[in-house]
Amino acid sequence: MSINTELSQEIVTKRLKLRLFRFSDVPVVFEYIQEPDMGLFLDSSVSICTEADTAAIIARHILVDRTQRNVWAITIDDLPVGGISINFAKEHRVAEIGYSVKKALWGQGYASEATQAVIDAAFETCPDLRRVQANIHPQNEGSIRVAKRAGMVYEGTLRSYSYVRGEVADEDVYAILRND
Ligand SMILES: CC(C)(COP(=O)(O)OP(=O)(O)OC[C@H]1O[C@@H](n2cnc3c(N)ncnc32)[C@H](O)[C@@H]1OP(=O)(O)O)[C@@H](O)C(=O)NCCC(=O)NCCS
Repeated sequence: MSINTELSQEIVTKRLKLRLFRFSDVPVVFEYIQEPDMGLFLDSSVSICTEADTAAIIARHILVDRTQRNVWAITIDDLPVGGISINFAKEHRVAEIGYSVKKALWGQGYASEATQAVIDAAFETCPDLRRVQANIHPQNEGSIRVAKRAGMVYEGTLRSYSYVRGEVADEDVYAILRND
């Protein structure tokens, strides 16, 4: 049985527009993504070193199979200030969300605003979707705050689950159910 998991290509919130990435975004994204703090709690496979790496990531975002994964640039005045994605495991009718905002704008509620909008759009567009979760490094306080502000609750810890900067790390699972 299939469910519709292609969310709107553009989601407008009070202060932000979520839109598809474009190749012309590469220089702007490269400028903020190379900040060391951006990858502090992320799997080393997504740490970025060069503008070419950034271009490769943006290319993957552009070519993504939107029936499985939706990814948007978080923009202000049409310029990317971060990214947000939602991956569907359709057979189980669940999804996983991930987000980032450039360091210069941390603490102003932008990730929370984008996350809330994507969760709302996912539950609205996919009537069979039961659950949205985020897997978060236990020390990633900002991300945990974003998850909680979006109504996700802590469900448990996946022990020894990932590699972050070459070290084995746990991941905490936060999730919201449709009926929460
Ligand atoms: C996690 C991240 C997306 C948060 O973005 P943001 O736009 O600053 O988030 P918000 O402003 O919506 O913050 C929500 C709350 O977290 C707090 N917060 C944000 N960054 C924080 C930090 N580094 N440490 C502690 N608290 C933080 C905010 O003050 C806010 O608090 P409040 O609920 O009391 O108002 C951003 O830090 C980031 O991009 N980090 C790098 C990538 C990353 O780790 N992504 C998450 C992967 S799971």
